Amino acid sequence: MRYIPNDLAGKKILITGGGGFIGSNLAFYLQKNHPAANITVFDCFRTGEFFPSGNPTSFGDQRNLDGFNGEIIHGNINSKEDLQKIVAGKFDIIFHQAAISDTTVEDEAIMLQTNVKAFSDILVIAQQTNAKVIYASSAGTYGNSAPPNRVGAQETPTNVYGSSKLLMDIIASKFLLENEGMHIVGLRYFNVFGPREFLKGKTASMILQLGLQALSNKKVRLFKFGEQHRDFIYVEDVVQANIKALDAVKPGVYNVGTGISRTFNDIVKALAQEIGEFEVEYFDNPYAFYQNHTQADIQETKEMLNFEPGFSLEPGISSYINEIKAIHEQKIYS
Ligand SMILES: NC(=O)c1ccc[n+]([C@@H]2O[C@H](COP(=O)([O-])OP(=O)(O)OC[C@H]3O[C@@H](n4cnc5c(N)ncnc54)[C@H](O)[C@@H]3O)[C@@H](O)[C@H]2O)c1
Repeated sequence: MRYIPNDLAGKKILITGGGGFIGSNLAFYLQKNHPAANITVFDCFRTGEFFPSGNPTSFGDQRNLDGFNGEIIHGNINSKEDLQKIVAGKFDIIFHQAAISDTTVEDEAIMLQTNVKAFSDILVIAQQTNAKVIYASSAGTYGNSAPPNRVGAQETPTNVYGSSKLLMDIIASKFLLENEGMHIVGLRYFNVFGPREFLKGKTASMILQLGLQALSNKKVRLFKFGEQHRDFIYVEDVVQANIKALDAVKPGVYNVGTGISRTFNDIVKALAQEIGEFEVEYFDNPYAFYQNHTQADIQETKEMLNFEPGFSLEPGISSYINEIKAIHEQKIYS
């Protein structure tokens, strides 16, 4: 499923975080479907630094952009000097994906600087240069509140990451009130999975983690007893939401999920359909704060963005399984 919005030909489009999972998928979608658009990626890529968890401080990787023909700016959104490159680019559209995407990071100072302060700076640039802004928010804003999750209701994040994304939404709303005519749309992605997430390592989706475990060991490990519910959304649908957000009837914040929650056990069944049976071992969940049930209410997203998810869990996994097998066989990313 794809959607061609009103003429992107000749438009200058910036994707911050375009070296990461979702940003690179967006870059390739635009390159393929809007060849007359002028696409630039801005990313700090990997810096060789790590958080105490052992995860890199940024997941961007040039390998995600193999075959991308647009311009690539190596820059850090936390650097005023690097942000000047965005000012100079005079972009018509900014898809802002850059962020600390690792939900386990507890360092508030770096999370707030990267996810919140730098976002404010980008909004100011967009206001000065008259750019539309579509940015990545998150289902992390809802914490453990009761499903279905609705924008404006029960936003009680349980970690620093979720709080940073909620602050982004608050800042964007305030900015819209103060700057009439601006087009700013926040997209609360639920659990995204699909091609080009491998380099996120331990923070990649359960679909990839379980798929690789099953292929390598004929066995997967799940938190007891695999009945945690998530709204899993295929990356192609997330790309579609970003494109449709350009023509949103009303700026604001919208959920991006399928509207249906599925369990980790459902992933196991869907993977078994693709690669054959394997064993499941259940173990105690070590996390004190863990979202046990997320489910997007997407009524407003449908009405205001004309968004319609194209993939439920099983077709998403079918579409993705060849990449998972290729990673396992070390044919890619080796
Ligand atoms: N993947 C999901 O399930 C999911 C769910 C909800 C929200 N999100 C949000 O969607 C966006 C994209 O997520 P993703 O899964 O592609 O993660 P990702 O980590 O693969 O992509 C983020 C990109 O931002 C870059 N980046 C980080 N800090 C930067 C900095 N200071 N300056 C410049 N670039 C920087 C990274 O190098 C990386 O390429 C993020 O904002 C994330 O919080 C993702």
